[in-house]
Amino acid sequence: MLKGKNIILGITGSIAAYKSAELTSQLVKLGANVTAIMTKAATHFISPLTLSTLSKNKVITDLFETPLNSEVEHINLADKADILLIAPATANIIGKIAAGIADDFLTTFALACKSPILIAPAMNERMYLNPILQENIKKLKKQGVYFVEPEVGNLACGEQGIGRLADVHKIVAAIESILKPTSPLKGKKILITAGGTQEPIDPIRYIGNRSSGKMGYALAGVAKEFGAEVTLISAPTQLEPPAGVQTIFVETASQMRDEVLKAFPTVDIVISAAAVADFSPKEIKTQKIKKTTLPLVIELEKTIDILAELGQKKQVPGLKPVPDLKSVPGLKPDKILVGFAAESENLISNAKAKLKEKNLDLIVANDIKTAFGKDTTQVTIITKDGECEELPLLSKTETAREIMKKISKFLDR
Ligand SMILES: Cc1cc2nc3c(=O)[nH]c(=O)nc-3n(C[C@H](O)[C@H](O)[C@H](O)COP(=O)(O)O)c2cc1C
Repeated sequence: MLKGKNIILGITGSIAAYKSAELTSQLVKLGANVTAIMTKAATHFISPLTLSTLSKNKVITDLFETPLNSEVEHINLADKADILLIAPATANIIGKIAAGIADDFLTTFALACKSPILIAPAMNERMYLNPILQENIKKLKKQGVYFVEPEVGNLACGEQGIGRLADVHKIVAAIESILKPTSPLKGKKILITAGGTQEPIDPIRYIGNRSSGKMGYALAGVAKEFGAEVTLISAPTQLEPPAGVQTIFVETASQMRDEVLKAFPTVDIVISAAAVADFSPKEIKTQKIKKTTLPLVIELEKTIDILAELGQKKQVPGLKPVPDLKSVPGLKPDKILVGFAAESENLISNAKAKLKEKNLDLIVANDIKTAFGKDTTQVTIITKDGECEELPLLSKTETAREIMKKISKFLDR
């Protein structure tokens, strides 16, 4: 599908620049026409001769090398580009593009480029997790720039962590998915819950949990990327909702249930990634409880299990839809229900039991010790057909992509 595509490959001054040779070879093998643009720093890591030999095209390294009477090369090239891929992308180039700086060929080209831009960062973990860099990435994502997340592993500096350039096949897959005319979830409506609910005790205190909402928000962003119409029902988090996602904010388990039940009849897929409280105070005090109120006993009652309720409402193959859903206009009966099992012991057996008990199609099992609050996670995806796939430790966005691919396959069955 990359046959005849004009791919402009920006290469910057990262130790991973040598991998751009393999990337170029792969893209050329798939029939793409690759033109490499190298920053000055990149030429310290890999020779332009290597790239021009592999791409069979001239490699651009200097904004001012074009003779004055020829066409303006960065504009001309921008017009025919199908995609600009920057791999590896330094913290520097990401910052410059986010700030609109155009002080060399690659940055000038990026500003002039109307085609999709895909960035594959590569750097030390501290650089990658630096809030300034993360702000820049967020800003670019908002502008529609695509990112292939770096991987977790050994870094060139000798440290371990997130920051390794994504695998070449992942970068190629990302280009294919961006240039692909249709998206796997196009026309599908998806409901995602995220965050940790807060159950009030009195006007200022609540019972909460440690969920950051990062997994649910990543799922919402990826579902959008896959072409779905996304509704995110979010309990409190510190996160900004992904662009183009309809977000409804709630606080308590009961509010979450109300909003989920409202949206449920008309969606095709539900992913329940929120950490919904299992218990809430039986009585909410209207006045702040005084320090002197001792002994203090807060009586709790069970909240309603939203996912189990959805499992009951979902149509079971071969059976008629539950009556209260039959009468809903625009009802989509065959829904895919996806749950999360955050467990501290017997992870897989508990997850499998939950999948069955709640009538789910898929369950994502993760160990609460490795997932809560972090940017990375290690999960196992279990399907109702008995498939059980253990994923490696990945960023939550990468994990979300793998989950969404599994869901897309379910839809194709
Ligand atoms: C040995 C070495 C390795 C480097 N690796 C990286 C890297 O992986 N990622 C990064 O963001 N910067 C890295 N840098 C720093 C960049 O080369 C530097 O910020 C440079 O200004 C980037 O210029 P450019 O973005 O125009 O290519 C490295 C520098 C050196 C000397």
